Amino acid sequence: MSEIIKNMSDTLVRLQVELTEIVQNANDLQMLEQAKVTALGKKGRITDLMKTLGAMDPEERKSTGQALNVLKDEIAGLISRQEEALKRQAMDEKLAREIIDITLSVRPERKGHIHPISQTMEELATIFADMGFRIAEGPEIEDDWHNFTALNFPPGHPAREMQDTFFLPEDTGAQGEFAKKLLRTHTSPVQIRHMKANKPPIRIIAMGRTYRSDYDMTHTPMFHQIEGLVIDEKTHMGHLKGCLRDFCEAYFEVDDLPMRFRPSFFPFVEPGAEVDIGCSRKDGGLKIGKGESWLEILGCGMVHPNVLKNCGIDPEQYQGFAFGMGIERIAMLKYGIPDLRTFFDSDARWLDYYGFDPLQRPNRAFSES
Ligand code: DAH
Repeated sequence: MSEIIKNMSDTLVRLQVELTEIVQNANDLQMLEQAKVTALGKKGRITDLMKTLGAMDPEERKSTGQALNVLKDEIAGLISRQEEALKRQAMDEKLAREIIDITLSVRPERKGHIHPISQTMEELATIFADMGFRIAEGPEIEDDWHNFTALNFPPGHPAREMQDTFFLPEDTGAQGEFAKKLLRTHTSPVQIRHMKANKPPIRIIAMGRTYRSDYDMTHTPMFHQIEGLVIDEKTHMGHLKGCLRDFCEAYFEVDDLPMRFRPSFFPFVEPGAEVDIGCSRKDGGLKIGKGESWLEILGCGMVHPNVLKNCGIDPEQYQGFAFGMGIERIAMLKYGIPDLRTFFDSDARWLDYYGFDPLQRPNRAFSES
């Protein structure tokens, strides 16, 4: 080997070591780009040597040319492997930074609860939907006609008096009983609105807030009611009893629940009744089901012909039943909550104790049967 070729070969070996080190030390893509320019760029180290080939004699040019090409390919391969490794590393880092561990459970100290009223309303909707009822709605700010007159309340009825009803300033844009605004005292006016807007057959429930000026262990100025209404050509008292029996057994999750219908008076039904369910009281506790005692839970009856007439429905052709219940009351009975006022104290500890797991389905027993 000539002296010149040997010198060149030493130069190439040193260059290889040097360039390999530069490439391997490039620990981000920018540094690698720089290394690429240094090795293979137009003014790079390998390119510079390529330029000297022209001045060499043929033998030297051949061997040096081959060796340079081998070195060039080697360094180019090294750069592309390094680039791949750096890109993979950058992606791994990005993925690690952006990771969302969906297996992490909810932090127990942050767990929220469903309020017993919401839970009970969900249960009521589920049960009545299964029986073919639809949900109807009406406004909380009502007028005297829908809240009382259309429901056949005689003039001077005690419920219209100031101590029960929250009256609002008159609506100057309306006439007579429509001008007398009030906070609805029950959900029964939704019956009226629904019958005026829809033709029978009708099968609805209406749930929501109601207002009366009252406050003690079993009364709050705002409370919730559910109203039911069924109107068609054939529905009779037997259907009313069957419907309420199915409802009570599903809601209280008790088979063969003792029930009794006591005659009672509500202006908008005839005949009217109050429904009691069986219960037993032991050691200060209350258990719904067969027992020595009774609990009143709802009012009901066959819709009064005057109410049908007030809504433009012919009582000679149509009839049906209605019922109404206090939602707090049936929630208190099912879940053993002693004081109605606590429902609206907004006390988080109360809600932790009496509230419901948001992930639990309401009335599971009934829906899955
Ligand atoms: N609206 C009545 C109340 O607030 C409850 C009620 C009783 C509703 C009998 C009815 C019914 O539909 O038929 O006390």
